[in-house]
This record gives sequence, structure tokens and C-alpha cells, in this order.
Amino acid sequence: MRKYIGLVGTTTAKSTNRQLLKFMKRHFEKQATIELIEVSGLPMFNKPQDLKVPQRAVEIAKKINSSDGVIISTPEYDHAVPAVLMNALEWLSYGIHPLLDKPVMIIGASFGSLGTSRAQAHLRQMLDSPEIGARVMPSSEYLVGHVLEAFDKDGNLCDQEKIDQLDALFADFEQFVKISKELWHTEKADRKAIQKLDKQDFK
Ligand SMILES: Cc1cc2nc3c(=O)[nH]c(=O)nc-3n(C[C@H](O)[C@H](O)[C@H](O)COP(=O)(O)O)c2cc1C
Repeated sequence: MRKYIGLVGTTTAKSTNRQLLKFMKRHFEKQATIELIEVSGLPMFNKPQDLKVPQRAVEIAKKINSSDGVIISTPEYDHAVPAVLMNALEWLSYGIHPLLDKPVMIIGASFGSLGTSRAQAHLRQMLDSPEIGARVMPSSEYLVGHVLEAFDKDGNLCDQEKIDQLDALFADFEQFVKISKELWHTEKADRKAIQKLDKQDFK
């Protein structure tokens, strides 16, 4: 059984994005293990004088490293991802690069009708940077708009069509994870390029 990380893109205590990941964890439990990880506990990113990456970032990186893939659920703040998620990604691309060549599926929930489509495009662009270098599943968007009405009292998605869409997307993601293992030709060059970038800071 594959092991995935569900990265919660917010630190808000009552979050619909966390709820969505929790739903996925339960809904797919016979197929895969999904461990939720919070982006809390990280200081605001600035290049540390002692070049030390915070222990919390190292812990998150370890979990991502030992997973088969990452599902990121992001809210949308001002047409972008929340600053806390961006902050976490900055720490995860400074000296440590756990997302390099890691299969990633992006999902999101928001109060608006567009359900994080702009935040997802923003996140996709970030994940594609050389410092992060994730393998983001192409041609896929899972948007839960008007999310305040999307869950029932047990935390399950109400709309069967939305569940069917998630089932299909998750099946594709599992396939994508499998295919990604065969895309290893650039791995060495990617690592080398990142080491070169790191050298500019970590001399
Ligand atoms: C500062 C701020 C900016 C927001 N900007 C957007 C936005 O651009 N688009 C949108 O659909 N919702 C926006 N929202 C509403 C969020 O979609 C809503 O708070 C969302 O559910 C957050 O996810 P959560 O339930 O996981 O916390 C904004 C909310 C805040 C607090």
C-alpha cells in the first residue's frame, strides 16, 4: 500500500482544507495511507545567519522523503496560496529539497465559486521552480467551491459527483506516482543543479 503525505496548506484551526484531506484519508484508507502534516511551527523564512534549517522543517522533509507522493490542499487568499504555505515551501527549498522529483497532487477548498483555481495555478508555478522541482500531476485540478456547504455533519463530501471526480483523480494520481518512478533520467542533473544553487548560500 502506498504512503502519501497530506500537506495542510493553512494553520487555521477550523479549516475546510484540513477537513478535505481528512475526508480523503478515510475515503481511500483501503487503497493508501495518507498522513496529514501541518505547516505550523516554522519561523518566518529568512536566510539564517548560521545556515541552519529549523528542526521542524527537517522533520517535515523526512516525512516527505519517505512518502510516495504528496497531496497539498490549499485555501485561496487574495488569489494566491496562504503565506504560511509559501513559508513552508521556502524552508523546504533551502538546503533541503524533499519535493524534488516527488509526485504532487494539488487540491483546494474555498468559500468562493472558483474553489481555489487561482491559488492552485500559483502553487503549481511555485512547485515547478528549480529549488522545489516537484512533479506536479498535469491537467488536473480538484476544486471545492462554496465549501461551507460541501460537507455533511460527519465531515463527508455531500455531492456524489464531487466524490466520483475525486475517485477518478486519485486513481490517476496513483498511476502518475507509478509512472513518475520511471522518469529518473533527469534526477542526477536536477540534484546537481540544486546543489549548485545551494552552494551560493551554503558555502
Ligand atoms: C485574507 C483572505 C483572503 C481571501 N481571498 C480569497 C480569494 O482570493 N478567493 C477565494 O475563493 N476565497 C478567498 N478567501 C476565503 C477563503 O476561501 C476561505 O477563508 C477558505 O475557506 C480558507 O480555507 P480553510 O477553510 O481551509 O481555512 C479569503 C480569505 C481570507 C481570510
